[in-house]
Amino acid sequence: MKMKFTMLEFVAVLLLAGVISSYGQQANYITTGFGAPVSYKDASLTVGRRGQLLLEDTEFIDEMAHFDRERIPERNGHAKGAGAFGYFEVTNDITRYSAASLFERVGKRTRIAVRFSTTGAENGSTDTRRDMRGFAIKFYTDEGNWDLVGLHFPVFLIRDPILLPSMVHAQRRNPITFLRDANQQWDFITLRPESIHMALYMFSDKGTPDGYRYMDGFGVNTFKLINATGHHIYCKFNYLTDQGLRNLTAARARQLEAQDPDYAIRDLYNAIASNNYPSWTLYIQVMTDEQARNSSFNPFDDTKVWPEDIYPLIQVGRFTLNENPTNYFQDVEQMALSPSNMVPGIKPSPDRMLQGRLFAYPDTQRYRLGPNFLQIPVNCPLNVRNYQRDGAMSYNNQGNNTVYHPNSVDSLNVSQRAAALNPPYSVSGDVYRYDDGSEDNFSQATNFYLNVLDEAGRVSLVENLVRAVSPAAATYQQRALDLFGNVSADLRARVQAGLGL
Ligand code: HEM
Ligand SMILES: *[C@@H]1O[C@H](CO)[C@@H](O)[C@H](O)[C@H]1NC(C)=O
Ligand SMILES: *[C@@H]1O[C@H](CO)[C@@H](O)[C@H](O)[C@H]1NC(C)=O
Ligand SMILES: *[C@@H]1O[C@H](CO)[C@@H](O)[C@H](O)[C@H]1NC(C)=O
Ligand SMILES: *[C@@H]1O[C@H](CO)[C@@H](O)[C@H](O)[C@H]1NC(C)=O
Ligand SMILES: *[C@@H]1O[C@H](CO)[C@@H](O)[C@H](O)[C@H]1NC(C)=O
Ligand SMILES: *[C@@H]1O[C@H](CO)[C@@H](O)[C@H](O)[C@H]1NC(C)=O
Ligand SMILES: *[C@@H]1O[C@H](CO)[C@@H](O)[C@H](O)[C@H]1NC(C)=O
Ligand SMILES: *[C@@H]1O[C@H](CO)[C@@H](O)[C@H](O)[C@H]1NC(C)=O
Repeated sequence: MKMKFTMLEFVAVLLLAGVISSYGQQANYITTGFGAPVSYKDASLTVGRRGQLLLEDTEFIDEMAHFDRERIPERNGHAKGAGAFGYFEVTNDITRYSAASLFERVGKRTRIAVRFSTTGAENGSTDTRRDMRGFAIKFYTDEGNWDLVGLHFPVFLIRDPILLPSMVHAQRRNPITFLRDANQQWDFITLRPESIHMALYMFSDKGTPDGYRYMDGFGVNTFKLINATGHHIYCKFNYLTDQGLRNLTAARARQLEAQDPDYAIRDLYNAIASNNYPSWTLYIQVMTDEQARNSSFNPFDDTKVWPEDIYPLIQVGRFTLNENPTNYFQDVEQMALSPSNMVPGIKPSPDRMLQGRLFAYPDTQRYRLGPNFLQIPVNCPLNVRNYQRDGAMSYNNQGNNTVYHPNSVDSLNVSQRAAALNPPYSVSGDVYRYDDGSEDNFSQATNFYLNVLDEAGRVSLVENLVRAVSPAAATYQQRALDLFGNVSADLRARVQAGLGL
């Protein structure tokens, strides 16, 4: 089946299916929000030519009251972004690892929505700032929506979700000065040395990708795949750009921040508008239970990568973005992506950060968009039937269907397939707050410095670190140097020289 349709056609299908009502069609004249034809659009109702406004001007009040409520809270993180639609197509059979319906056969296509973003700054900020980029994909599969909410770095700054709010606060504005603050940034990073791996990505030229098309994406967290016989395997998702990697020099990125703050949004929109569709190839890396137990590093620690020589990339498919949103707020601002949106065949691993995220995203989205945010067309799955009802803005309240389970009326059963793909699994361990002191914080950062970067890359990294650390107080500069020394004596010496210490 060809699974490619526009949002309009999607709504039309829902209409035909009687899922949503046919009210709210376009009139060919101007109306109020309540649908009454407007008598005059260019003047409010006044007492005489130069007199007061009247409370009975419901056309004015309708217009102004809606305007007063036009803004919704911006995302608490990843506030500035760009989105597009397209499709995913399977190119390689991975059914021995996952029974997810979207992977069921080579050639199968699934409609997707993608949102790219910067992470640390506000909605009005610049696209080319040094930052990690969000790269999140919603797959509208025939067994529900699966969201792969990833980044353009393969690793994250922390490994325990309880530190996430503090991590974010430290990187944001100082609450007194309302300025970004090198002291609080380096204070946090140096007290949590596991941060250094991602910090090196951030301050290398990878921290300034050239727009959104020339960068890779990574699921970052570790997931679990379940196959049709109920066996599981751990997995990382990597999606590599077919356009080739490109990054900006720090100087060029700063120049663009001044000249074209919306550089990445513009680049993506124009590429798609001119039929120059960007694509990425999706790969998995897999690890068995036994390999996970034997691994020299914790495979559920999102500050670590899985070395490709031990866990090679296995191709899965390719996704292509070929459709711009028709309305940014409707399709992109209201998009609600969450790692908790999983489908049969894809499950969470014990990765702590992932477990924490499973709660955080739908929680923030109920607040940001309201309790029925899953009924907004861009978030709405292809099929829904359950016993959830009511709440603010319930648009599809499921008509006269039975509202409780079990019942003797609707004769609906759960899916046998979903039951088979959720076999029992055992866990054990003493309940405690483990902050594992034996965890290796530096080996992979050292490898990044020595082997992933070439000499030119190390030169840029050092320049960028010197620029970032120099505004910090002497005590934080010293602690940062010690941290760099844990990565490599060479890195420490070069940054120290750059700081003139
Ligand atoms: C416990 C850790 C984390 C928490 C509590 C957290 C929280 C959040 C929140 C509240 C949002 C805004 C969501 C919305 O309003 O729709 C968000 C967005 C996002 N997060 Fe996280 N985050 C965490 C870790 C991570 C990690 C490890 C990644 C890497 C894969 C990540 C990637 C993203 C992306 C890509 C978005 C933007 C999604 C979009 O485009 O709408 N986050 N996060
Ligand atoms: C982001 O900023 C733009 C431009 O001011 C505005 O149109 C949009 O509503 C803002 N989004 C949020 C969520 O605040
Ligand atoms: C599921 O994985 C197990 C373990 O690797 C394997 O023995 C079995 O054949 C797989 N099942 C399918 C349907 O591929
Ligand atoms: C940045 O891009 C240049 C040019 O494509 C490339 O040579 C360099 O390796 C990239 N740097 C990093 C850190 O990826
Ligand atoms: C795991 O370690 C044990 C004991 O060292 C060894 O016998 C086994 O082959 C290892 N398994 C894997 C998958 O590396
Ligand atoms: C429920 O609604 C459907 C469609 O509107 C209608 O055909 C059916 O008769 C209704 N059933 C009851 C019990 O009201
Ligand atoms: C639901 O499951 C019950 C018990 O297994 C069975 O008797 C019934 O026929 C099933 N109903 C449907 C609609 O499949
Ligand atoms: C790694 O860092 C954590 C804190 O971020 C610390 O608890 C742990 O002791 C460090 N590991 C080593 C081996 O120093
Ligand atoms: C990191 O560097 C500090 C200061 O040089 C040193 O005391 C500490 O032992 C180092 N930690 C590791 C894990 O190498």
